[in-house]
Amino acid sequence: MGTAQNAWYVNFFGDDYLDIYRHTFTAERAEKEVAFAALKLGLTAGARVLDLCCGPGRHSVLLAQHGYRVTGLDLSQSYLELARRTAADHQTAIDTVLADMREIPFDNHFDAVINMYSSFGYLESESEDLKALESISRSLRRGGRLLLDMLNREWAVANYIQNDWHAEPDGTLYVEHRALDLESSRMRVRFGPRGWKSTVRLVGLEAGCELPPSAIGSRQFTLITYSSSRPTMGPPIAPSTG
Ligand SMILES: C[S@@+](CC[C@H](N)C(=O)[O-])C[C@H]1O[C@@H](n2cnc3c(N)ncnc32)[C@H](O)[C@@H]1O
Repeated sequence: MGTAQNAWYVNFFGDDYLDIYRHTFTAERAEKEVAFAALKLGLTAGARVLDLCCGPGRHSVLLAQHGYRVTGLDLSQSYLELARRTAADHQTAIDTVLADMREIPFDNHFDAVINMYSSFGYLESESEDLKALESISRSLRRGGRLLLDMLNREWAVANYIQNDWHAEPDGTLYVEHRALDLESSRMRVRFGPRGWKSTVRLVGLEAGCELPPSAIGSRQFTLITYSSSRPTMGPPIAPSTG
């Protein structure tokens, strides 16, 4: 298989990305997300957790501080180095792996996998999503759990802002142009002087989970619960049987 070298997500995640989104990655938010993950995944002391598409490690490091054995996997070597350094700065340690989410080099190993901040929605097609899910499934031990944090379509529609910006204290103005494509159910974003472009799949919860049906409800995964913290969505949608 191999990662397509011209795929947008190969080069997109660098310093510019961190500059534009850093203000949204607060410590308080990461703490809440990690507490939610630990609860929903039923993590027990010393559990082996894979932070899939870990980026600079804002969840990996916290999970390691909580005593879990954490592996961060990402396509970006520089983000993995940043994650390791941040862990060391916090007197903890994580393992890191440079790999594509469709080629996780572990079998029957992790108690839980987390995939945070909509990274699962990047791939080009449902068949590529399915490859990622199969790879995740292989990496988990039997009974292991997966948490997918995806962009909620209803929320994205209700809160759509086409052109958005924020100013940093040094006066730099960061501008994002967003295009909501309901037909393909994707949000396309362009930002910065270099015109970086991303595209993320939106997932609707009202009509049930839109992950590849062959993966969900199959022998690979049993859906345990949906959850949404967004007030526009109301309460979690119909938890399924475990
Ligand atoms: C939005 S960042 C999220 C990082 C982290 N999960 C967080 O919440 O801060 C997405 C990350 O996914 C990584 N990524 C994108 N496509 C990937 C792929 N196919 N396989 C592995 N990592 C990938 C990027 O390099 C980037 O670090």
